[in-house]
Amino acid sequence: MNEDRVIIGKNFVFQEGTVLGAFPLKLEQKDGRRLRMQVKGNLIIEDDVDIGANCVLNLGWLEDTIIRKGVFIGHLSSVGHDADIGEHTVISVHVGISGHVKVGKWCYIAPQTVIAPYVKIGDYTMIGMGSVVDKDIPSGVIAYGSPCMVIRENKWRPDMGSTVDDLIEAAKRERI
Ligand SMILES: CC(C)(COP(=O)(O)OP(=O)(O)OC[C@H]1O[C@@H](n2cnc3c(N)ncnc32)[C@H](O)[C@@H]1OP(=O)(O)O)[C@@H](O)C(=O)NCCC(=O)NCCS
Repeated sequence: MNEDRVIIGKNFVFQEGTVLGAFPLKLEQKDGRRLRMQVKGNLIIEDDVDIGANCVLNLGWLEDTIIRKGVFIGHLSSVGHDADIGEHTVISVHVGISGHVKVGKWCYIAPQTVIAPYVKIGDYTMIGMGSVVDKDIPSGVIAYGSPCMVIRENKWRPDMGSTVDDLIEAAKRERI
């Protein structure tokens, strides 16, 4: 852990193998060699965050990387530099979040999804498993596929059930 550049809130838990404040793969060429660039940002983890095993959370490059209040992240996922993960969002296992990505609040990102740099995902949106998200996705939708497409409205809201299984059940039940 990069202790001087990782700022952690209350009730933080993380499992074995997870690296906090890793140096991102930002490279420049000098004199025919590739070198890692200096990074300016920190990693900020707000209150009540829970991270699984073998995850990598990068430092910010130009700005901070921010994991907001109440976020859960499953095993083997990574969060890129300058990314911002919104309050109460759940990132499942094996998810690759690139640099500068913004994910809204109360989202669910299913396993094996990849999100391209600078993509923005709105609030209350569910991204289905195995998606390649290469464009912005609005709030309140279910989207999946490669490339990721909006499939339908996501009617799930937090008062419709508290677990990820509730969310997936509601997504199927609330089909339009
Ligand atoms: C979003 C999700 C629930 C799919 O919802 P849905 O729209 O109700 O999907 P359905 O099962 O009714 O399938 C509808 C069609 O989309 C396809 N499809 C479903 N999910 C897909 C995905 N993620 N990517 C590509 N195609 C998908 C199905 O094959 C089906 O195609 P068909 O009509 O040609 O047969 C599902 O993709 C998902 O991500 N589930 C989450 C699993 C999960 O996270 N479990 C917890 C693990 S810890």
